[in-house]
Amino acid sequence: MIYSFDDIVTRLCSENISSPRLEARMMLAYILGCDASQVQPSQINLSAEQQTILDDMLEQRLEHKPLCKILGTKSFYKYDFIVSEDVLSPRPDTEILVEAAIDLGKQFPIHKILDMGIGSGCILLSLLGDLPAAVGTGIDISANALEIARKNAKRLGLSERCRFFQSSWFSERIDYGENFDLIVSNPPYIPTKDISGLDPEVKFYDPLTALDGGEDGLRDYCRIAAIAPTLLSDDGFLLLECGDGQSGEVIKIFMSTGLELVDVRKDLSGKDRCIILKK
Ligand SMILES: C[S@@+](CC[C@H](N)C(=O)[O-])C[C@H]1O[C@@H](n2cnc3c(N)ncnc32)[C@H](O)[C@@H]1O
Repeated sequence: MIYSFDDIVTRLCSENISSPRLEARMMLAYILGCDASQVQPSQINLSAEQQTILDDMLEQRLEHKPLCKILGTKSFYKYDFIVSEDVLSPRPDTEILVEAAIDLGKQFPIHKILDMGIGSGCILLSLLGDLPAAVGTGIDISANALEIARKNAKRLGLSERCRFFQSSWFSERIDYGENFDLIVSNPPYIPTKDISGLDPEVKFYDPLTALDGGEDGLRDYCRIAAIAPTLLSDDGFLLLECGDGQSGEVIKIFMSTGLELVDVRKDLSGKDRCIILKK
């Protein structure tokens, strides 16, 4: 089957894929081995093999598999991260937390960082990239997610500066052998009843363990609040991502542990997205 650029866009539109022109460019760029900005929509000349790859990509995308999970990588902050169905696709909203942490790292001595629920590694590895004196620990309940985080660390040349543990914050004993100047976490925070209403790209292709925050979406914050303060160094910072409308409750949960609220950062749509606390 021969496609024109507009054919690809029309097929993507038929399944209400957002940004169909950009996605068509990204697919073609992947196949042609060039940058998306170099794709010339009027002059697409694909070999039979390239056509087959495009057919396969389109078929997956029309089933709502996210493009990043078809291409295998997703841009986040300054880097491209390997992604798979074992990790949450890194979200632009999470860059707010990374930027807030880097601002702190410029003002305060931050050497040891803990990422609770590391997933692809997008938060911790972005921080290590910008804070060259820091070392990191990433924990996750998912062995498969940790494998992806390890691959990303290797790809970014950061393996020597981070270590990874398979661990649940719900387990009895939490001891990583040291305290941390900065703890970051983007825990699962979607209320269980809301998951069935999420976009297919999310509910079928992000792992449920990365999404489901229990009945009210706050289950994991409560547990993290019970353990994070004891893992923080004196004067250490804790940065949390939260969902739409959750900041008030999350702040309450963490301030009840004695942590001090420093700031709340908003995302690009003006919603509270990142809570900054201090020991
Ligand atoms: C929302 S994802 C965030 C992933 C990544 N930090 C990011 O921002 O893209 C939450 C992560 O927490 C992990 N997780 C869920 N429950 C956990 C638990 N009880 N203990 C440790 N990690 C957990 C999930 O496997 C997932 O990787």
